[in-house]
Amino acid sequence: MEVVHRGGVIRRLREELPVGWQVTALGVVATVVAVLAPAFVLTFGLFLWARRQGWPSSRMRNLTLTLLAAWLFGAVMQLWQVGWPETLRVLTEAFRLLLSGHVDWANTVGVLAVVEVPIAAVAAWVVLRRQEVRMMQSTQPRRAMRWQQRTNKNRRNAALRRARQEITPMSRLSGLVVLAQQYREEKPREQLTLEYLRARHPVYLGVTDEELNRHITLTGQTGAGKTELLKRLTGGWTEARWRTYGQKSSQGVSGSPDGRATGGAASPRPLTIFVDAKGGEQSTDLAFEWADTMEAIGLAPERVGVFPFQDGLNMWALPPAQLVETIHELAKTEHRFYDTLQRGLLRLVLEAPNVRPPANSVEFLRRIDPQQLRKAWDGHPGRLAQLQQMAQSGTLATDLILLDDLFGTLGHDFDAQRSIQDFDALFVSLPGTEKNRVAAAKARLLVELLKFELTHGARREVLFVFDEWSAVSEHVDVLQLLQTARSLGGRVVLSAQSYATLGSSEQEVNRILSVMGGGHLVMAGNQVEEWAKLAGTRFRAEVGAHLEGESHVGEGTLRMQSQFTVSPDELRQLPERDVVRIKSGVVQFGTVVKLDATKRLPSKAIHRHPWRQITTAGPVSSWWRLGEERRELVQRMVPQLTAGPSKDEG
Ligand SMILES: Nc1ncnc2c1ncn2[C@@H]1O[C@H](COP(=O)(O)OP(=O)(O)OP(=O)(O)O)[C@@H](O)[C@H]1O
Ligand SMILES: [Mg+2]
Repeated sequence: MEVVHRGGVIRRLREELPVGWQVTALGVVATVVAVLAPAFVLTFGLFLWARRQGWPSSRMRNLTLTLLAAWLFGAVMQLWQVGWPETLRVLTEAFRLLLSGHVDWANTVGVLAVVEVPIAAVAAWVVLRRQEVRMMQSTQPRRAMRWQQRTNKNRRNAALRRARQEITPMSRLSGLVVLAQQYREEKPREQLTLEYLRARHPVYLGVTDEELNRHITLTGQTGAGKTELLKRLTGGWTEARWRTYGQKSSQGVSGSPDGRATGGAASPRPLTIFVDAKGGEQSTDLAFEWADTMEAIGLAPERVGVFPFQDGLNMWALPPAQLVETIHELAKTEHRFYDTLQRGLLRLVLEAPNVRPPANSVEFLRRIDPQQLRKAWDGHPGRLAQLQQMAQSGTLATDLILLDDLFGTLGHDFDAQRSIQDFDALFVSLPGTEKNRVAAAKARLLVELLKFELTHGARREVLFVFDEWSAVSEHVDVLQLLQTARSLGGRVVLSAQSYATLGSSEQEVNRILSVMGGGHLVMAGNQVEEWAKLAGTRFRAEVGAHLEGESHVGEGTLRMQSQFTVSPDELRQLPERDVVRIKSGVVQFGTVVKLDATKRLPSKAIHRHPWRQITTAGPVSSWWRLGEERRELVQRMVPQLTAGPSKDEG
């Protein structure tokens, strides 16, 4: 029956076909296969490939449009080259051969596949979009969840593949500082049709300079990869800023962020400061590793500083009034004993009128000399009386010894070494958490120094990164720091182990977060509820199905419910090395790629910059000589000072 019928079709075809065409049963089957097979293979190939990449349908649509455009171009070129009649002839000839059972698979199927590309691309897009919509509105929640999980997993795998296959850039021309390969983005709102049509699919997760300008936080448990991320952040920001360094802003001085430069509207030189508050033995390794990285990306080696292991700073650049407070503070924290150090003495020495302030510790100690001080303060009876009283009580020698000891323990950290203006990148290691009070005092001095040098010298664009911020958070007023940073042209990045350790109290954490407007970076950790709350909620459909036994009876309810945009559980399950960025309710997921100096040539933006190497001033004095001179000075002066009062009395 069937055979007769098929024979009938073929006979009828034979009658209708033009002269010279032959039809066989095999030919018909071959034709159907040759036409359908490429279409199916292409459609499902594209579909499966998109699934493997975890692409959203909007991305598939972009590919489809690109393919269509390329195909159209090819088709037009083809028609233009060989003409319409010839093209038609080739196609008819292919079908004639197919129907007669002479299948030239390579040519015929190849040509048909090329012809069918647009159909397949559109079909793949439609299939993907249909699946997406079905899963979003699914009444089978578990299936939809599995689909979502698989999509996310595929996307992450694709990101990991990208991370392996390409050298992830440090920054983009748009100014984006690249932190990670992005694999997922959750938005608090539904996508509007126009947004779907215009959707772009960024592959890099990053922050822009404007966002950094409003400060950001980074939290994650030990080993999550915070320090690596910060390395990438500093490298990327440095590169991005060097691209604009020296460029004139098109806007006036007032309107543009770069216009804060002294008078002109040229973008100031970037300065990156990496503060490691954790200290400890690893700090040295980290310090030199970071410095190496900064040199590898192109900064001049003499302009990369490592404090205090290699380079010291110069606290004597501070104005006298500030120096009084600073030295008093430092002395107090070193030993309880120093509490007795007289502030009065410091003021007498440092604020002496008509005398150049001391330039280093030796000059400072040398001036603890009643005779010199008396001369300097001539005409200030109040101060002279104070001096007289000190000299008589015989504490000057003790104070001298205390101060000498203080400068000894400080080493060359702050004693007449280099100016912050000398550096393009500066690593600052604060002593370990076990010596919190010292760390905090040094941190404060550092902040004072930065504040002063950056407001009184050439304008700089500064990025402050505080790794393990929690170690000093109790002792440094962060809000003041942030406000100061703003006025210094600075951005601040605070890193801590968790939400709670960002500040010393809950109120302080809240206050800190209210200022950090640039977004929050979250890495693997357990204390993530607060971040999920901060990311906010969005409306999602909740499906309730009426069941009879196990099966769905076709009735149900659907209601809108507000849900976390990213649930705490998802954050808790975050793999190490992955980062989540939370900003204005949008949550982005990415996997961090370690900055590998061996796989990256120096950044052209920095390396070829005409002002890369500007001569540095270098250290003001050599610290080992200072130490020696101090020793001699103390040996000479202590007997004099102790002898002094008795001579006056006698
Ligand atoms: N993206 C990455 N790719 C490969 N290795 C990484 C990556 N990020 C971090 N690591 C490695 O993981 C280890 C821990 O990373 P890191 O020191 O950055 O963590 P951390 O969060 O700063 O930890 P801690 O709180 O102890 O300072 C390091 O050995 C580092 O080399
Ligand atoms: Mg770390």
